Amino acid sequence: MKIRPAKVSDVKQIHKLIEYYADNKEMLHRSLNAIYENIQEFVVVVEGDKVIGCGALHVSWDDLAEIKALAVGKGYTKKGIGKQIMKTLEKNAKLLGVKKVFVLSFKPQFFEKLKYNVVAKETLPHKIWSECINCHLFPDCGEVPLLKKLK
Ligand SMILES: CC(C)(COP(=O)(O)OP(=O)(O)OC[C@H]1O[C@@H](n2cnc3c(N)ncnc32)[C@H](O)[C@@H]1OP(=O)(O)O)[C@@H](O)C(=O)NCCC(=O)NCCS
Repeated sequence: MKIRPAKVSDVKQIHKLIEYYADNKEMLHRSLNAIYENIQEFVVVVEGDKVIGCGALHVSWDDLAEIKALAVGKGYTKKGIGKQIMKTLEKNAKLLGVKKVFVLSFKPQFFEKLKYNVVAKETLPHKIWSECINCHLFPDCGEVPLLKKLK
């Protein structure tokens, strides 16, 4: 098992992984197109050629980035893989010079364990809510905003 930057050849598997949880309403759907266009933001955990986990880091502004599309395949959860993906994305954020990372999640407890704090929506920049308007869950999606200051 290893963690590495995603490649275009991983995209179909990343899409399938996200679709599984999005169909269960545990995360938001992402189109193949959106994954291809943002592939540089993604890291994957692989076993051979099989993608068993993924996550993405999207820079929002000069000191802020968002964790997106975090998923660990069914059968591979509770083994520390999610935590490992988060650690890598936070390391990448630091390399980019980003000081704060946030996430919008239906699973706040997972992120609280990783030292993320629930924050009021209004404390995050308006621009991050722009894509919400196109979401079928808008305006009452139930996602919780959480933020962590990187050391
Ligand atoms: C949430 C998810 C990424 C966790 O991945 P994982 O590989 O199982 O997580 P880990 O094994 O690294 O767990 C790290 C810690 O969080 C805890 N944890 C894992 N899932 C949790 C959950 N749903 N709620 C609360 N705590 C959770 C673990 O018990 C572990 O705690 P510990 O360090 O005290 O043992 C995974 O369950 C998943 O892909 N879920 C569906 C998609 C999703 O919800 N994505 C995230 C939000 S958009």
